[in-house]
Amino acid sequence: MESKQLRTLALEASKNAYSPYSKAHVGCALETSDGSIYTGCNIENASYGGTICAERVAILKAVSDKKMKLTKIYVYTKEGWPPCGMCRQVMSEFAADNLEVIIGNEAGVENKIKFSDLMPLSFTPDHLV
Ligand code: THU
Repeated sequence: MESKQLRTLALEASKNAYSPYSKAHVGCALETSDGSIYTGCNIENASYGGTICAERVAILKAVSDKKMKLTKIYVYTKEGWPPCGMCRQVMSEFAADNLEVIIGNEAGVENKIKFSDLMPLSFTPDHLV
């Protein structure tokens, strides 16, 4: 799917954020190797550690449908926040070789980056075999 369409979906998903504490609205739209599309928003919790980022919500929705290879991830915030370290680690578990991450903001500025550049030397399932 074109980045433009993923952006629209990520922006829409950000509107569903449940973020009464930070008030941050994060949206994610991703594509898997078979062309399936999943979206997610951040979901906070009164016990703050229970908060789940938008990226992980979208990834876990995909994996729970047995879509195990992520090929493209669009993350949308007003400010253009990059994915946090925990989300990068979860991405590394399910990243296709050429996973592309696009970070977009409200103004339309986009940072397109290969996952391998976003998280070099990541710890992956390959280390455990
Ligand atoms: N957040 C995300 O959804 N993704 C990230 O990669 C960074 C942070 C959310 C979690 C929390 O709801 C809010 O942004 C502030 O940390």
